[in-house]
Amino acid sequence: MAMQTFAGDPGAFARFDLARVPSPCFVVDEARLEQNLRVLADIQARSGATVLCALKAFSMWELAPLVSRYLSGVCASGLWEARLGREEYGGIVETYSAGYKPDEMTEIAGLSDHIIFNTQAAKDRFLPVLQASGRDIHVGLRFNPGLPLGDDAKYDPAAPGSRLGTPLEKIDAAALAGVDGLHMHTLCEQDLSPLLAIWEHIAPRIRTLAPHLKWINFGGGHHITRADYDREGLIAFLRRVTEETGLHCYLEPGEAVALDCGILVGAVLDVVENDGANAILDISATCHMPDVIEAPYRPALLGEGGDTPVRLGGPSCLAGDVIGRYDFGAVPAIGTRVAFLDQAHYSMVKTTTFNGVRLPALAVWNSDTDALRVIRKFDYNDFKGRLS
Ligand SMILES: Cc1ncc(COP(=O)(O)O)c(C=O)c1O
Repeated sequence: MAMQTFAGDPGAFARFDLARVPSPCFVVDEARLEQNLRVLADIQARSGATVLCALKAFSMWELAPLVSRYLSGVCASGLWEARLGREEYGGIVETYSAGYKPDEMTEIAGLSDHIIFNTQAAKDRFLPVLQASGRDIHVGLRFNPGLPLGDDAKYDPAAPGSRLGTPLEKIDAAALAGVDGLHMHTLCEQDLSPLLAIWEHIAPRIRTLAPHLKWINFGGGHHITRADYDREGLIAFLRRVTEETGLHCYLEPGEAVALDCGILVGAVLDVVENDGANAILDISATCHMPDVIEAPYRPALLGEGGDTPVRLGGPSCLAGDVIGRYDFGAVPAIGTRVAFLDQAHYSMVKTTTFNGVRLPALAVWNSDTDALRVIRKFDYNDFKGRLS
């Protein structure tokens, strides 16, 4: 069954002329992004917590100066994101990976302000490298709270048998030698209540460990910029944790930064009639929106409506390269532009050139001023350059 999509508000894109950009193209509304950033900066200011942008979700670095104006830095998933964070963004670079390559650790230590390890053994193995860097690096250990509260085990790092984080009960004072903080990440598109439930579950143990520590990082998955998110409750929670434990709190949302900020524009290339209409687009689920197949979910279509159902699919050879069934006023003509909503996060960062399908161009639009700039177009060399 396809997952529910929480986002999908067209916002200002309802009045964006899709013909203004090449096809396919990701278009990000920087005014909407700034609204989200203001919400997150307000949480940061009023809670005393530090909020970082998770680059794995959204790393359109053209907008790094804007992101850095509001947030305190970035959270990276390894060497390359850490380098992008250091090169393009301001503030803290925090790096967490479930597995570090030994030959990358010196460079990671040269780039990162926080380095978080998945296990005590990895921390012990790499601590000398961090010390040799001569930099004041905060060392973190990721724990697994062991309370799965997600709808889908695939997106729940607290699911039984998970490889992500050391079970909290296994973390004792010895495991914390050289450690400044604890990190957890188990939420996915969730409201405040699962975070509160996890805190109830872990608080007794965290209170015992807190005297050895400086901070706690509650990871991402907090859908803070969704209209119905309990932001006042989050602020009160973060303040309470700091008051009770003396620990500084960190959050590292990704999706919440770019929620409802971008669309993926495409065009109809052909129509195949087979038990209903199949429109072939220059957008491919597998190449451009792989979560559509992986999750799976059905992305919202800009301006959907009518009584003609049409299956939309990609140009690739994959039979399952199907985006979904959508209602149109009539079977769309060849060349018709379409756009999928809420594609700024976890799509642009996941694209591939399978089948030699063209990568979408990247554009920034400002819905306040109507200024549009196409910042990147991809060509044959981008495809060829990834192969040899
Ligand atoms: C360690 C970590 N931090 C932060 C995030 C960002 O999560 P989200 O984009 O759901 O806020 C993720 C997502 O997988 C993650 O694994």
